Amino acid sequence: EERLHAIRALPKTELHLHFEGAAPPDFIRGLAKEKHVDISRIFNPDGSYAYRDFVHFLSVYEAATSVLKTPEDYARLCAAVLEESAEQGVIYAETFLSPDFCGGGDVAAWREYLHAIRETAEAAEKTHGITLRGIITCIRHFGPEQAKTAARCAAETKDDWLVGFGMAGDENKGKQRDFAYSFDMAREAGLHLTSHAGEWRGPQEVREAVEDLGVARIGHGVRAIGDLAVVDMLAEREITLEVCPGSNVFLGVFPSLDKHPIDALRDRGVRVTVSTDDPPFFHTTMPDEYENLAKTFRWDEEVFTDINRTAMQAAFCDDATRDAIL
Ligand code: ADE
Ligand code: ZN
Repeated sequence: EERLHAIRALPKTELHLHFEGAAPPDFIRGLAKEKHVDISRIFNPDGSYAYRDFVHFLSVYEAATSVLKTPEDYARLCAAVLEESAEQGVIYAETFLSPDFCGGGDVAAWREYLHAIRETAEAAEKTHGITLRGIITCIRHFGPEQAKTAARCAAETKDDWLVGFGMAGDENKGKQRDFAYSFDMAREAGLHLTSHAGEWRGPQEVREAVEDLGVARIGHGVRAIGDLAVVDMLAEREITLEVCPGSNVFLGVFPSLDKHPIDALRDRGVRVTVSTDDPPFFHTTMPDEYENLAKTFRWDEEVFTDINRTAMQAAFCDDATRDAIL
């Protein structure tokens, strides 16, 4: 259909993309073979990633990431991901990068990974017209002490390509406020803040990310819908949600897209944006997300244009970069 084709082709901004989570299974299999690492257990017979549930997904994610061993491996992944994203109409993206995976928390090693990724991203910007920025990310289930190592890497890396600090990982481990020290350090280093909240836990978790960590954006945040006072707080404070509908449906956060609250949150005045999270893991792409939302909620081009404007306004890049894209 003509309408859906036009919507798939729109220029898109993606704010929530885990860097290793964007790695196609063929790419990871290829690296595993090169390095003689046996991770065949993380693949289905058809070649796709195999996992049972969210917690198992996190361990499969870490196994896939274990074959990305050098800055050059990350540079190769960066080139592959950006070529594909640009093909799919993405013009601006932010990606989560973790010092825990890139150099094991060592600042000097982290800088080498960052340098390799940034150089590749800048080359891709020239050839494909896609702009990428990085969000340095701690992993919740690795605990608050390891998060401080990530925050230290952030504070000791003065690099304007790194625009934010975030937290991913298992939301059922610990509390948002356990990570306040790290978020404070990142804020003092001039970084913008986001945290995964309200993907698995309820509205209170979303409130705590805003009140205890002072984030401007929330990863997911969709379970805020269970308490309209929290929804209204998000609208009033102009917090932007990085919503990943395909991820939520694939992982069973909601049984189907028509039961997903993205449209209701938007109707109530919350700033919602659309991202893929870990696209090959959840069998999704940005054009697929747009098509599915257009079909399910009868969203037209104007809605998507508005969502992309919201996303660019909430982007963590500097204003000159933002103005060049808007
Ligand atoms: N890491 C990668 N994807 C994630 C998700 N959807 N939630 C939390 N941590 C993640
Ligand atoms: Zn995520």
